[in-house]
Amino acid sequence: MAALGKVGTISEYALFPHPEEWAVLRRMQSCTRRREWMASRAALRALVALTASADRPLDAKIVKDRYGRPTVRVVKQGICHDIGCSISHKGGRVAVCLAEDGVTAVGIDIETVSERPVRLARAFIHEKDCAAGIEDAKRRYTLLWSCKEAASKVLGLGLLVDYKKMVVVVDDAGRIRIDFNGQVEMEGTVVHLEDAVVVCCRSCRPLMKRNALSA
Ligand SMILES: CC(C)(COP(=O)(O)OP(=O)(O)OC[C@H]1O[C@@H](n2cnc3c(N)ncnc32)[C@H](O)[C@@H]1OP(=O)(O)O)[C@@H](O)C(=O)NCCC(=O)NCCS
Repeated sequence: MAALGKVGTISEYALFPHPEEWAVLRRMQSCTRRREWMASRAALRALVALTASADRPLDAKIVKDRYGRPTVRVVKQGICHDIGCSISHKGGRVAVCLAEDGVTAVGIDIETVSERPVRLARAFIHEKDCAAGIEDAKRRYTLLWSCKEAASKVLGLGLLVDYKKMVVVVDDAGRIRIDFNGQVEMEGTVVHLEDAVVVCCRSCRPLMKRNALSA
């Protein structure tokens, strides 16, 4: 399940950050970053509330592993659970998603359509990457880049992933298939906004241990 919104709008409905998150928030210098950070946490708690995944959604804590991958930690029927989630913020928008079954690895990414991915293409494109029916080069390369960003969040390896080892195929209905190095298969979908793309994807099978993946 995923949510997308403008930072200001979500902040109006912001659920208060967990007391332990205040320490992180206080260290942030940039006002934009603080607003995006709070909005993404608020949106995740709203999803937790909508999916009834916790006894007290406001108590859901967003924790990170050592690679930076976030997880929502909740208590349901007195037992502590970790729910897979993903976060992205760009240009005043935030997008978040929660794993429907709680455990599938998920990844979400928002990218503003720009010239940059066209310029960087040689650094991240695989010869088999393809986005059907998208004529505009800026939107096509932004979409392929965004797919790889979302996929890197599924893998949870952050900057360690070589994007040239990913093959992305987007069909003309916006369905996405991603293969990472013949080791991990992912599927997802794209939403096109006027000036941006939002990609949400998940692993097709349970992930093997991250240190067993050759990034
Ligand atoms: C995680 C990553 C994708 C960040 O993406 P980004 O576009 O800079 O920023 P986004 O707003 O979309 O995502 C930020 C969120 O990613 C999440 N994240 C960070 N590390 C993560 C990881 N290892 N796994 C999953 N999610 C992660 C965090 O939740 C973060 O939000 P938060 O700080 O509010 O908690 C990062 O791996 C990255 O910058 N990759 C680029 C890799 C690259 O350049 N490769 C070379 C190809 S040429």
